[in-house]
Amino acid sequence: MTSKDIRDKYIKFFTDKNHKQIPASKLVPENDPSTLFTSSGMQPLVPYLLGQQHPEGKRLVNSQPSFRAEDIEEVGDNRHTTFFEMLGNWSLGDYWKKEQLEYFLKFLTEELGLEKERLYVSVFEGNSDIPKDEESQEIWKSLGINEDHIYFYGAEENWWSRSGPPEKMPEGEIGGPDSEVFYDFFPDDEFKEDLKVYSHNGRLLEIGNSVFMQYQKTKDGFKELPQKNVDFGGGLERLTAAANKNPDIFKTDLYENIIKEIESASDKSYEDEVNKALMQVIADHLKAAVFLIADGVLPSNKLQGYVLRRLIRRSAVKMHQLGGGLTPLPGFGGIAESVLTTYDGVLLDRHTLRDNVDKVIREELNRFGDSLDKALKEIEKIQNIDGKKAFDLYQTFGFPYEVTEELFRQKGQEIDRESFKAEFEKHRNLSRTASAGMFKGGLADHSETVTKYHTATHLLHQALRDVLGPEVFQKGSNITTDRLRFDFSFQRKATDGEIKKVEDLVNQRIKEDLKVDHMIISLEEAKGMNAIGLFNEKYADKVSIYGIGPNFTLDPDALDQRNRSGYYSAEFCGGPHVEHTNVIGKISIVKEEAISAGIRRIRAEIVLN
Ligand code: SER
Repeated sequence: MTSKDIRDKYIKFFTDKNHKQIPASKLVPENDPSTLFTSSGMQPLVPYLLGQQHPEGKRLVNSQPSFRAEDIEEVGDNRHTTFFEMLGNWSLGDYWKKEQLEYFLKFLTEELGLEKERLYVSVFEGNSDIPKDEESQEIWKSLGINEDHIYFYGAEENWWSRSGPPEKMPEGEIGGPDSEVFYDFFPDDEFKEDLKVYSHNGRLLEIGNSVFMQYQKTKDGFKELPQKNVDFGGGLERLTAAANKNPDIFKTDLYENIIKEIESASDKSYEDEVNKALMQVIADHLKAAVFLIADGVLPSNKLQGYVLRRLIRRSAVKMHQLGGGLTPLPGFGGIAESVLTTYDGVLLDRHTLRDNVDKVIREELNRFGDSLDKALKEIEKIQNIDGKKAFDLYQTFGFPYEVTEELFRQKGQEIDRESFKAEFEKHRNLSRTASAGMFKGGLADHSETVTKYHTATHLLHQALRDVLGPEVFQKGSNITTDRLRFDFSFQRKATDGEIKKVEDLVNQRIKEDLKVDHMIISLEEAKGMNAIGLFNEKYADKVSIYGIGPNFTLDPDALDQRNRSGYYSAEFCGGPHVEHTNVIGKISIVKEEAISAGIRRIRAEIVLN
């Protein structure tokens, strides 16, 4: 069974059950400043899980390309990747546990032909706030899952939120207990250990996770959301592996040709155990790199660009370890091309992307070659290289530990692997904290202050267009509880006078206490209104629009084409927003600067009157 068969079957299975297929979001979210990457299908759906009405109804399904940068060090076995495709279905306050578990089991057994006896499931054992999920246990039993295939675990295993277990969730974050399903690839071997042992050693693969998204964290503990949601996600790569009874996802058609290209570029065989992990990393990283480039990311030292840089450089070094030479690196063009071919017409358009993908990767490899030269000179100078120095080389030049180690062995030096590991862990914890912080400060926390800033951002967007002209268009937005940051297209520096005008205009609109309306309308109607910011909803039939106004104090002649609706501002947006503008208070624009050619950045804060 091919991955395409499985993707198609899944979408059909759920659309037959009255789910609407929604378009996948981009890998780099365009309208969610709280996170760098789309890492699961639920991410763009947060406002709807919180209770807002979704334009397509209460039952949704899709396939979402997802990227998890935090898993980069896990890659190098039969099942871990940074990039994967997540099949997802959602009930927004509609069906609940019984239907969900029944649907998924039916899909696995009837559509993919998996044997019920080879399935194991886990459910939430409860904690001091949330009860044990006996309901799911009973449902699984009634569906014919043997009692000894059902395992109870705590929040570390069976709780899902974007920021992990309950204690790590920031205030406002949503989550709930979940139930995971595992497939046993070696049913003839005695099952004598705990389920966890086998899922960690790769005998079992987790092939789906039904999250019962029912709670929101508040400062006084957990409260029930206004509706009980189901958020299901299953990795297409793993489902394909299970359907084909081979536990190695790199043997599926989603990787087969990519691995073949790596084999031919390095003249090594994947079947040879010493090469496997290296090839798995290259296949994953270059696949992820191609998807990021397709979404417009360029290698840099910041944010998404830095992640892309690491992916390409790590692949280069792994290729070197395979014996493929360090620079120039043969075969990267061919490997990238095989990624494009694998997804051509499904998720990517090979024809339009190939030149750019090739160019971006080639240029980055050249830059890497230069910094490698510098790193090698640096190494020459260092007498004793300890774990910390090895880590600095890794950080600064993307120089992996294994390569540093190998070079010093040649020089007759041994590096203390443990001290390198300690530095590495320290750094990893720091970056985990930093990414958890993004949720905390970003729009995802849906706190009162963030919501105010979000509405202020819409007012600012429109005010900039009023003062500077319609060429102003949002290029990025990032909100924390302390400030808003707004990037927009504009060719020159705005004058102090213009900035003052924009600030006054926003404050005037706030004072007028304009009403904020949420509309779910057809794409045609939204276009008719000239609503701005056509973000992720390009292909949806129904779209979500926030209108601020109507503003009767405006001179009707001042209403231009964009505001035919009479709203002061009308934008494509998932929310949430304040209901009336005067709760925002007063904003002050504290900075205006260029961030790249033709793109300016404004920073504004809410100030006391
Ligand atoms: N959000 C859950 C996950 O990512 C289920 O879709 O696992």
